[in-house]
Formats: sequence, structure tokens, C-alpha cells
Amino acid sequence: MKIPEKGMPKEDIFKILQDYKGNDLDWQSGKVLGFIYDAGKKVHEVTHAAYTLYLTENALDPLSFPSLLRLENEVVRMTANLLDCSSDVVGNFTSGGTESLILAVKTARDYSRAVKPHIKEPEMVLPITAHSSLLKACHYLGIKPVRTRVHNESFKADVGAMRAALTDNTILLVGSAPGYAHGVVDPITEIAALAKEKDLLCHVDACVGGIHLSYMRKLGYDVPDFNLNIPGVTSLSVDLHKYGYAPKGASIVLHKNKELRKYQIWGCSRWTGYPVINAAITSAKSGGPMAAAWAVLNYMGDEGYMEIVKEVMAATQLMIDGVSRIDGLRVLGKPDMCMFALASTTDKINVYRLAEEMKKTGWYLQPQFARENSPANLHISLNRSTVPRARAFLKDFDSTVEEIKKRDADPQTRDLQEELKKLSLKYDDETFLKLAEMAGVTGTEPPQSMEKVNMLLEALPYDVSEYVLVEYLNNMMK
Ligand SMILES: Cc1ncc(COP(=O)(O)O)c(C=O)c1O
Repeated sequence: MKIPEKGMPKEDIFKILQDYKGNDLDWQSGKVLGFIYDAGKKVHEVTHAAYTLYLTENALDPLSFPSLLRLENEVVRMTANLLDCSSDVVGNFTSGGTESLILAVKTARDYSRAVKPHIKEPEMVLPITAHSSLLKACHYLGIKPVRTRVHNESFKADVGAMRAALTDNTILLVGSAPGYAHGVVDPITEIAALAKEKDLLCHVDACVGGIHLSYMRKLGYDVPDFNLNIPGVTSLSVDLHKYGYAPKGASIVLHKNKELRKYQIWGCSRWTGYPVINAAITSAKSGGPMAAAWAVLNYMGDEGYMEIVKEVMAATQLMIDGVSRIDGLRVLGKPDMCMFALASTTDKINVYRLAEEMKKTGWYLQPQFARENSPANLHISLNRSTVPRARAFLKDFDSTVEEIKKRDADPQTRDLQEELKKLSLKYDDETFLKLAEMAGVTGTEPPQSMEKVNMLLEALPYDVSEYVLVEYLNNMMK
């Protein structure tokens, strides 16, 4: 594939792009129960227009594009006020939850370097349910992640285990509001109190929950505390491109005060080019996501968000009640908002097969592996576009489960574990190809079915399955 010698007509370009999209998940169907946060056509029109208005403006230099500084400050203030933050709280716009988390961890690392220089090998204590991006942050920033158990029934962080995991090298504690996998909020007040007692920093990952939970609280739902005004919490991340319904590329990282935030900012004047100051990781970036986020907050207003949250919570309850009635399945923990995880209680139902069967009826549910005390499960996140489909989901789900139950018992991950014991697993091409064959995939193309792939990845030791994931992407991407 080469850049064409002569440019193509606009019409041809859009025809090709539409064709390319043919195999993508149909996010407008309301049947995609993960990845997508869609508030409907009217909101989309507003964000689309605001995004394109700022498509080319570069947020690299707030002096050249002062309107972007203004938009960023206004988006940060609106978000901080929604979260009941004091006026000392400061924050920045980032490209997403991952960037916000990396920045929060970097801030903690550089703060500790400054005030606790004796710590040479910093550690961060986090529950096993904390988002993988926090592990990525540790990996990028040279911090040791110390992962702690969660309670068996609630899937909330075990603060006793966090306390036991502290060492002289600990710099940061983390809790989630909520953890993505099960949709349950950690005991943030207790985690923060532990951080305060031990003079540590404490980050709340409210990437997925910050906006939705705040509106639930305004509506009178019983919402566990998770805000920055809890004594001991020092930073918080909240994504606007999730339940703020902004287009992708919009998150906020907040710090208790400017004193802490200064460890986030990067300045450079020693190279041969222009002087650089970056609050976030990226340098040049489109003003589009910022403008679209500003637009959606103003377009929706509190009333608009509350209306959506009310509808989404009613649909969530309907779906949780519906699936809880099905023999052979259970909801894990007690979800605090509009996302939950469903596990099987019988060998008759393998959740990975269930996900594949549901895919045939147009529904996308997200498989999640059995890890520590969390069994294999399917994750469901609702958003506004799911609301009118909740009953249709239950109908399709019920009949799919019934069909599956009529068959012989499903294959189980433990059968694969037996097969794997016979292999000597190494980090090499031979192992990769052998595993790909076991999973019935080529290793270079997207798999037709994920059932066996998921079982295999689940059955492998963590480091081998992560090796396989990396190899796979490395093969698939040109
Ligand atoms: C709790 C939580 N934190 C962080 C992230 C990462 O966010 P992003 O995918 O925007 O980088 C997610 C994504 O789902 C999340 O649910």
C-alpha cells in the first residue's frame, strides 16, 4: 500500500471509509455494552460541530491560542465544582483516563523524590481491581505496583490488606470509584485515612464514575463518598469521554492544590527549539476534544445529565433484576452505578461462549478473566443508547442462555489448563504458534470467535498470556 500518486476525489474517499467501517461494532445500535458512551443524535451534533470548529487549533501553546486555555480552565472548573471540590483544587485536561492516571502517578513519584529523597525504589499499593492503566503507569514510570486482595463478596478493596502491604518505599495508595470490572466503589474514606495516617499520597480513579456518580448523588441515590474533599485524598481522575458523553480524548486530572500539581508539569528550555511547557503528556494536540467537552457540558447542563442518569439507572435496575432471575448466573458484588459483571454458577454455561452467542444476536458483552477471587464474567456497561433496548436485551439474553443450557456442558478453562501443563511454555515464536493453534487462530488475523482465545489467555500464567498479547498485536500491526 502506497500513498496514491494522484489525490482521490472526496466522494471516493468517504465511500472507502464507509466500507472500511463495515465490520466495526455498530455503536449506534444501543447493543454495544462496553466501550461506547452515546447520548444520542442531538448531543452528537453539538460535539461534532464544536470538535471540528477546533480541529486544527493547537493546544501546545496557550499563548497563541488563548481560547484553548480558557476552555480548559472552564472545563476543569465545571468538573471540579460538580465534584464539590474546594477552590484550592486545580486540574488539567488530558486525552483520557490513561493519561490522567499516568500524570497522577508521575506527580506522586516526583513529589516523593522531592520530599522523601531517601526512597529510591518507590511503590504504589492498589487493589487488584484497579484499572490496568495504573499498572501501565507503574511500568512507564519505574514504580513497583503492590496489588492487594479485594473482599470476596463485595469486590471492594480490603483496606487491611493495603495496610499490610505498606513498606518504607510506599508513596501512593489508590482506590477506584468505581472499579471498571465490577462497578463497585472502593472504601475511599478508609483508604484516604490510611494514606493520611502514613503521610502518603492517595489517588481516586473516578475515570468511569466521576460524572455519573455525582449526578446520582444529586438525584438522591445512596452513593459512597469518593471526592477530593475526603481527608487524605490528594488527586482524582474523571473522564468526560465516558459518562460526560464527550467524544473520545477528554479526561480531567485534579490535584488537591497547586503545590502538588507542580510535580505534574514539564518545562524545557534547554534544547535548540522553542521553549516548552506541558501540563499533560502530549505536546501538540488538537483543540477539538477540549472544545467538544466544553460544548457537551454546557449543552447538557445539570438537568440534561440528571435526566440521562435517571433513565440509565432505571434500565440498569431492570437489567440487573432480569439477569439475576436466571438460574445459573449471578451478578458479582453490589454494583454502585450503571455497570456490572455477570458470572456463571454452573458448568452448563461458559460465559465466553455466552458472549459469542450473544454476538450473533447483535449484542456485545465484554468478557473478563477469572483473576484471584474474581471469577470469569461478562461485563455490561449501560449508557443512554442502551436505555430503550433494555427489555430487548433481556429477551435475547434469556433465550440465548436457555439454548446454551440445552446443550452438553460447555468446555471449561480448567480443561485447557490440563492441556497446557503438557507443554513447555517459553517466550518464543514456537510457543506463540502452538498456542495460536490451540486457540484456533492464525495469530496474525483477527479471530472469528473469541471463546477459545479467552479461555486460553485466562488459563495461561499471567506473564505468558501478556507475552502472547504483545506478540499478537505486534504481528497484526504492520
Ligand atoms: C476506572 C477506569 N480507569 C481508567 C480507565 C482508562 O481510561 P481510558 O480508556 O480513557 O484511557 C478506565 C477505562 O475504562 C476505567 O474504567
